[in-house]
Amino acid sequence: MDWHDDPDNPNAKRTDWPVYTMDEVAQHNTDDDIWTVVDGEVFDLTQWRDRHEGGPSMIEGMAGVDASAEFHGMHGDAEAANILIHRFKIGDLAQG
Ligand code: HEM
Repeated sequence: MDWHDDPDNPNAKRTDWPVYTMDEVAQHNTDDDIWTVVDGEVFDLTQWRDRHEGGPSMIEGMAGVDASAEFHGMHGDAEAANILIHRFKIGDLAQG
């Protein structure tokens, strides 16, 4: 399933995403304010931290940085993780 078809994601059909810079993402870098970037999209994983089956420390490690490599390194193309992360999407990363 593509994440755009996830019935449990209220933003699945949204197209007008705000655009954030890496500097803005980097300001949300504490254990209870966790913004991250994966593949050019911005996510707020604060509420996911304590629900992650792989433990909170992995999510805390994503705070304020581009964590694409770490995310894919563990989850690869795993559908569950790739769909789930999009429930926490808040925007797109500014290009360049
Ligand atoms: C740096 C980023 C991440 C790392 C290193 C990581 C690592 C892990 C590890 C080690 C497990 C346990 C696997 C097992 O017990 O077999 C796990 C499970 C899981 N993680 Fe992550 N995780 C990361 C980010 C995320 C994110 C952002 C999501 C979704 C929002 C996610 C969703 C899941 C799910 C659904 C599971 C349980 C099912 C599965 O193993 O696929 N993870 N993760």
